Amino acid sequence: MKLPSKFYKPLAIGAPEPMREPPVRLERMIHFMPPHIEKLRAKVPDLISKVDVVLGNLEDAIPADAKEAARAGFISMARDNEFGETGFWTRINSLNSPWVLDDIIEIVTKVGNKVDVIMLPMVDGAWDIHYLDQLLAQLEATSGVTRPIQIHAILETAEGVQNVEEIASASPRMHGISLGPADLAASRGMKTTRVGGGHPGYGVLQDDAGDKSARAFYQQDLWHYTVAKMVDACAANNIKAFYGPFGDFSDPEACESQFRNAFLQGCLGAWSLHPTQIDIAKQVFSPDAGEVRFALRILEAMPDGTGAVLIDGKMQDDATWKQAKVIVDLARLVAAKDPELATEYGL
Ligand code: GLV
Ligand code: MG
Repeated sequence: MKLPSKFYKPLAIGAPEPMREPPVRLERMIHFMPPHIEKLRAKVPDLISKVDVVLGNLEDAIPADAKEAARAGFISMARDNEFGETGFWTRINSLNSPWVLDDIIEIVTKVGNKVDVIMLPMVDGAWDIHYLDQLLAQLEATSGVTRPIQIHAILETAEGVQNVEEIASASPRMHGISLGPADLAASRGMKTTRVGGGHPGYGVLQDDAGDKSARAFYQQDLWHYTVAKMVDACAANNIKAFYGPFGDFSDPEACESQFRNAFLQGCLGAWSLHPTQIDIAKQVFSPDAGEVRFALRILEAMPDGTGAVLIDGKMQDDATWKQAKVIVDLARLVAAKDPELATEYGL
């Protein structure tokens, strides 16, 4: 384990100082786009105004013969656009792939000052983060990158889930972690063929000792355990947790419900793989106006955050004040970007 005094030292002479506090940014949806498709690259300026994060995907879903074109397309997207408050990320190929070294070297040396976050797939343990951390520092130093590029890990192997606390605390570069339900299902040997979401067979049968003929079946959330474990690891290390992809584009209700479970459990956003999922994520990961107004009443009723008061018959104390603060802080971030929601929130 690294000495605390060394944790915040740059890993290469000339690399930028590691961040001590994460940047405050709204990241309700990480929108995936395939950078090798010119028609979609042309739509990036429009996308920048619609989403919180634009991500150029280089890994899964990009055919092997288009990997180099995707990387080149990402670099030209970086050069051709100003992203302003919208995040600009890439998902590189996994560390054991034949493409990853060129992904990292070319992107950091050519457009490193434009990229906020690199998403790293198939992270098994802290050692994967340490490798990328060191390499990024060396490349940042030699190519004049002035702000550290953050790392976002995908939690998508059984080994990664086992090591999630060490991954979350592996480096000051850690931005957050996303659940990767498709690869994780394969890694665990789950018997599903989906990208996220529930399964009709996974649930509990009502325990009724009397009449066994009319027992209800309640479907359960396949991802509850992993999301909870990931949220705790992230929150304990001051980094962000995200739900990942939802693959059934024909079922927006199921997508919304999966995103909402993640939001209520502590996630700050999810991936949007299809344009229709942008609005779903925006709706789910922006706090509800009624909740925000109630949270504002709690903060007003307890200006110093201590004591106990009754609001509409419900007891409020220091702990509900802290919950209210989480909701109001997020609402302020949303309001700064969305004037319509600002009015609804009364901010
Ligand atoms: C995402 O990468 C997943 O495997 O679900
Ligand atoms: Mg995956």
